[in-house]
Amino acid sequence: MRLSPRPVRDNGGVEQLQDTLGRAHRSLRLSVTDRCNLRCRYCMPAEGMPWIPSDELLDDEEIVSLVGLLASLGVTQVRITGGEPLVRPGLPRLVERLAALPGIEEISLTTNAVLLEDAVDELVAAGLRRVNVSLDSLDPDRFAAITRRRDLARALAGLAACERHPGLRPIKVNAVAIRGLSEPDVLPLAALARERPYVVRFIEVMPLDAPRTWERDDVLSGKELRAMIERRWPLVECPRERPAAPATRWRFADGAGELQFVSSVTEPFCASCDRLRLTADGQLRTCLFAEWETDLRTPLRAGAGPDVLERAARDAVLAKAPGHGMADPGYRYRGRPMSMIGG
Ligand code: 5AD
Ligand code: SF4
Repeated sequence: MRLSPRPVRDNGGVEQLQDTLGRAHRSLRLSVTDRCNLRCRYCMPAEGMPWIPSDELLDDEEIVSLVGLLASLGVTQVRITGGEPLVRPGLPRLVERLAALPGIEEISLTTNAVLLEDAVDELVAAGLRRVNVSLDSLDPDRFAAITRRRDLARALAGLAACERHPGLRPIKVNAVAIRGLSEPDVLPLAALARERPYVVRFIEVMPLDAPRTWERDDVLSGKELRAMIERRWPLVECPRERPAAPATRWRFADGAGELQFVSSVTEPFCASCDRLRLTADGQLRTCLFAEWETDLRTPLRAGAGPDVLERAARDAVLAKAPGHGMADPGYRYRGRPMSMIGG
């Protein structure tokens, strides 16, 4: 179904999606599939997941309807995530349709890059503007041990293919850091930011793994990571990209290259969070760690009009919690894992 167009926020007089703390929600993480071609240990078990049944996944038409509705309520940025978004058939056409929605200013993609080399030209032509590549090791054996697949060469080729497109900037590399595992990868990944036109970001591991083995001690904190790197290359802090950006930014004191640290666990940035999530099965989430979701698929498929869906989205945002509570001792997350909600 297609929802009737609505005036675009701000100048259109439509009230922004705002929570009780006054956080206006402008950024949407859109998970287009829960399937993935890798099996990263901090995300999935070796055998994969019980995938969401296909008939529960939103089709392109439904995604365009719901993103159009959220855009009419002030969302301007869409980041496409998964699972691995490139395993969804027809992604370039979907990007093109999302980019054409009134109010949408930027479409970005988070991918493991294994399928990116062949897809990037079409995606950029469709309107993709930014890419974040998830890459935890530059060593083929270590990459295979983390992801359970021998695909480092293809991922690096996908990453390199992004350089052909000057309109696709910045190119970011996301590395999840885990104590006792990631230490040998930290300096080689930092060096990548000196050698290639990539911003390398280190991300603290979060309790969003399907096997539920996360422990607080697994978290190699942003501060610890930075100390490891600064023993080799001193860093200078730079201002955040925008106030709601989750990452702190650092440049190498001796010249080119930028690193970022996303310290979600040890330095939560909930107070400035402007993110919403729409899962591949049409559930709206206001926080990665929320244990509840708002079902938009059922009313959409039942033919609900934009007013009903708008009310549901507004109520969800109004009920957004102030923070994730991971600092509490004994914190346990009971919601769906990362691959089902989009990173
Ligand atoms: N903790 C932190 N980041 C994670 N990702 C997947 N699982 C976790 C986790 N448990 C990351 C991926 C990718 C993004 C979508 O989320 O590596 O960069
Ligand atoms: Fe796939 Fe991303 Fe999960 Fe790795 S972290 S298994 S690439 S969804």
